[in-house]
Amino acid sequence: MAADTLCKTPFGNFRLLRYPARRDEPLQAWCAADLLLLDEVHRLAVPAKDILVVNDEHGMLGVALVPSAVWTDSALAALALQRNLAQNQRPDVPVAWSTTSPPGKASLVALRVPKQLPYFEYQLSVLAHRLAPGAIVLAAGMDKHLSPRVAPLLEQYIGPTQRQRGQRKARLFSACRDGRQTAPVATGAGYYCEALGAELQSQPNVFSRDSLDAGSRLLLAQLHQLQAAGTLLDLACGNGVLGLTAFRQGLAPALIFADESAMAIASARSNALRIFPQDSDCFIFHHDDGVVNYHGAAADLILCNPPFHLNHAVDEYAGRRLLEQCAGHLPAGGRLCFVANRHLDYLPTLKRHFHGIEKLAQDRRFVVWLALRR
Ligand SMILES: C[S@@+](CC[C@H](N)C(=O)[O-])C[C@H]1O[C@@H](n2cnc3c(N)ncnc32)[C@H](O)[C@@H]1O
Repeated sequence: MAADTLCKTPFGNFRLLRYPARRDEPLQAWCAADLLLLDEVHRLAVPAKDILVVNDEHGMLGVALVPSAVWTDSALAALALQRNLAQNQRPDVPVAWSTTSPPGKASLVALRVPKQLPYFEYQLSVLAHRLAPGAIVLAAGMDKHLSPRVAPLLEQYIGPTQRQRGQRKARLFSACRDGRQTAPVATGAGYYCEALGAELQSQPNVFSRDSLDAGSRLLLAQLHQLQAAGTLLDLACGNGVLGLTAFRQGLAPALIFADESAMAIASARSNALRIFPQDSDCFIFHHDDGVVNYHGAAADLILCNPPFHLNHAVDEYAGRRLLEQCAGHLPAGGRLCFVANRHLDYLPTLKRHFHGIEKLAQDRRFVVWLALRR
């Protein structure tokens, strides 16, 4: 059954859709953590121009508050925000990417605690330098996703922290900025990739930042089975490990790296330029929802280790969408090589758009598929 889209808040009632959303989307575009934040912001009665929203998921906070800016890593979240603002006839809200500092001097921050703790820590360390004493950071999340370290990290970077009320399995924390000094957090992490023969570094919100993912490893071991291409797309590139290794092995002279995470794109770019300093003209970087808005020359080979989570839940919808994007992007005869968890069934989607489907490898957890665009 499709989820209700009408959300009642102290700032008014709004119709909100998730982005991306499937037909009859069963999940709502907001959660109890958003509502806790909105109740508390309303109680504090801070003017919208002094509010900064951080990690809004589908635009609930941005639409209700119309803050000075939304600070996010996610192109999908920015698209959700944009669509829901328009749908509710709300003014535009500027988006500041995670790879820059948020603009302005907010006196109130409404923050959804992100999934990756190193990213949360990084965001708090940036905020600590931007906020004046007396500024309030409200942080909320769903109980089942909150680490016991949330309150200690708020205390460490921002100031005295209260664990506030819980409601409908969500929890709110409130921290007041004081003058405490904290050393800047070390943001980089990395690993040496054998197949690439180089170290890959990643910013805090990047997938598998300190070790090679086992699925990616299995895919890399099959690269020798692929014929060379004119242009290769590393779709959902993370730190760029698949595309950069393929480039090292001479699989294509031109590469496109695409990811919805600003930190992933920044990491892939800096890895590419550090490892292949003479080849900067060979690379294009695209931060968006896959390649839906990519209008450059098409690739004829795509490598992909698709996401298998939608936020916190395992869900093959996110991966299926990207495979459909691959079908839309590739010319006839173009090839898609991707790795998937064995328990996720992508075969029906593959069969709809591709032929010559071949299992290149499998192990206990993953399968690597090669398919030709019809
Ligand atoms: C399983 S990780 C793979 C990362 C990298 N290719 C690797 O092998 O380490 C999936 C990646 O998909 C990205 N992603 C999720 N949804 C996306 C979308 N709609 N468009 C582009 N990238 C997306 C995530 O940010 C993440 O970097």
